[in-house]
Amino acid sequence: MKISFLILVSGLVNLSCYTTSDKMNLLLNNPERFNEEIKEHQSDEQSGKQISGKAVYVKYCLTCHQSNGSGVPGMHPPLGMGSWVGKDPKDLINILMEGLSGKIEVNDEVYKDNMPSQSKLTDEEMAGVLTYIRSNFGNNFKPVTPEMVRNLRSNK
Ligand code: HEC
Repeated sequence: MKISFLILVSGLVNLSCYTTSDKMNLLLNNPERFNEEIKEHQSDEQSGKQISGKAVYVKYCLTCHQSNGSGVPGMHPPLGMGSWVGKDPKDLINILMEGLSGKIEVNDEVYKDNMPSQSKLTDEEMAGVLTYIRSNFGNNFKPVTPEMVRNLRSNK
């Protein structure tokens, strides 16, 4: 609980470009905001395993793919229905491991920017973020487990 809250806060800190102490001061001096953050966190926690995946998404994917997974037309592809998110988990793990470049088409729109490798993510973070995108933005696909990531990584 404590650790996942820290992850959430650090995600928010990163997002809003506050230094850690600015953010902490803001929270400490503003009990209402603090309670809101706690509440937000609790509702995340009730939806179970999604908490860490969401934090990873906010930290590592949101800038390009946007908070609602809409992407940016012509630049960053969307992650909702009709995207590659429902593909074989192995393909998705590979995209995170190696990044993606070259021309692709998602929902009739062409994308040819580069997606940088996310291989610095741990097995748990990769599984979490893939599970998060597979069960949000209108998607309803099976979770990805850390074991799947581990197996693929150790085959490299
Ligand atoms: C710097 C911007 C950037 C970041 C950060 C980024 N992506 Fe991407 N992503 C892209 C681009 C650009 C493509 C398309 C690459 C191409 O055209 O070959 C892409 C493609 C994808 C695809 C396949 C196409 C689709 O829309 O279904 C998935 C899935 C994906 N990204 C997930 C993620 C996840 C998960 C993260 C965070 C861990 C992430 N991306 C971080 C820019 C980014």
